[in-house]
Amino acid sequence: MYETHRGEIFHHGQDATKKLEGNSVEPVTYADHGWTVRARLPVRYDIVQSPDLFSMQNRDILLEAYNKTKVPYRRVVIIDNQVNQLYQDRIRQYFEHFLTDYQILPFYTSEQEKNLELVERILQELAALQVPRRSRPVIAIGGGVLLDTVGMAASLYRRGIPYVRVPTTLLALVDAAIGIKTSVNFQMHKNYLGSYYPPLLTLLDRTFLQTLDTRHICNGMAEILKVALIKDKELFELLEKHNAVLIAEKFQGRGVPELVIRHAIQGMLEELAPNLWEYELNRLMDFGHSFSPVFEMQALPRLLHGEAVAIDMAISTLLAYQRNLLSLDERDRIFRLMKNLGLPTFLPLCEPSLLYKALQETVKHRDGLQRLPLPTAIGSADFFNDISFGEIEMAVNLLKQRSD
Ligand SMILES: NC(=O)c1ccc[n+]([C@@H]2O[C@H](COP(=O)([O-])OP(=O)(O)OC[C@H]3O[C@@H](n4cnc5c(N)ncnc54)[C@H](O)[C@@H]3O)[C@@H](O)[C@H]2O)c1
Ligand SMILES: [Zn+2]
Repeated sequence: MYETHRGEIFHHGQDATKKLEGNSVEPVTYADHGWTVRARLPVRYDIVQSPDLFSMQNRDILLEAYNKTKVPYRRVVIIDNQVNQLYQDRIRQYFEHFLTDYQILPFYTSEQEKNLELVERILQELAALQVPRRSRPVIAIGGGVLLDTVGMAASLYRRGIPYVRVPTTLLALVDAAIGIKTSVNFQMHKNYLGSYYPPLLTLLDRTFLQTLDTRHICNGMAEILKVALIKDKELFELLEKHNAVLIAEKFQGRGVPELVIRHAIQGMLEELAPNLWEYELNRLMDFGHSFSPVFEMQALPRLLHGEAVAIDMAISTLLAYQRNLLSLDERDRIFRLMKNLGLPTFLPLCEPSLLYKALQETVKHRDGLQRLPLPTAIGSADFFNDISFGEIEMAVNLLKQRSD
């Protein structure tokens, strides 16, 4: 959990430029009529590969949370309903064996119902169990929707209780369970409400992916491709070479699946860790997430999150090509790989006017600038602030032609 750090309080009355830290002297803005409080919140959480998490020999889920909370035997498990149906015997048996006090609460989740009401229902269960502040950590098991909503509930309940994440979809394993963001959709806005709330730890067990259907494997591939395109050419080449077997075998086994996941998570963390609270709004990981929030919500329930990201990446790839940032050969390689990964590149709903409106929404979210990440080669990217309606129109026309 958090290390305890003492905050500092300064009254501005006597000393207008107080020495705060080391040699730095901070100018005081409110001169002689107030106080300044400064504190830091150090974050530490582990992302641990833990194959076969619920085998009786594996204690990761108990030990890690124990090390940090010193509570051996009490847990609340909040689990995606479908995952529960598939794995309940094994999971129940595991907790029955190791814990004296546990509850397993299955929740039906879907992107359409990723809202405040779902968070409130989770909160009501926590309140009904009178879950205390520290001594009964919540274990969240499921896809991105379950993890985002349980994380948000954990951040709100008693202003924050410890929780552990166990992603069970490919998308959650490489993305939703890696950073510290929790969220729900609000008024047709994607992930509009939420918090930055680190878990105690994330446990990665790829064996869950065996029961995912192919569409959801491809859905997760979109977020892996995102990392490859903007910062990891080697990952792109791994996907080019092994896409068929990765999809067919659902990331089971050692070797290539392990390597691909390691690249994806490493790349993600290199971008997220120095900017956990997103004070810096130029974010490479926003690639694929500039136009998609608007049409993803409008296309529900037809489109999955990764599919929306893929269409956004296709548009961005064409915008980059039109600006001569990418060669024709690079452009075609990207589209070929997207096809082989089973990802869509076009949606009739994506008219230029809707996409331009989406970009304007994104500008509000990014504090007045487009900050649009576009690939400048396979494996590198840069930010652009001057994409015009005409360029979007041209890209959409090209996409339409490709999809005919
Ligand atoms: N917090 C973040 O940083 C972050 C990052 C990326 C995505 N997200 C969010 O993640 C969400 C998408 O996540 P998702 O793609 O995991 O969707 P999801 O949570 O809706 O799961 C997809 C489907 O798979 C089922 N499922 C889950 N695990 C399964 C398993 N092992 N076997 C069989 N079925 C299983 C679920 O019941 C669901 O029907 C979006 O809401 C997106 O905004 C959040
Ligand atoms: Zn995403």
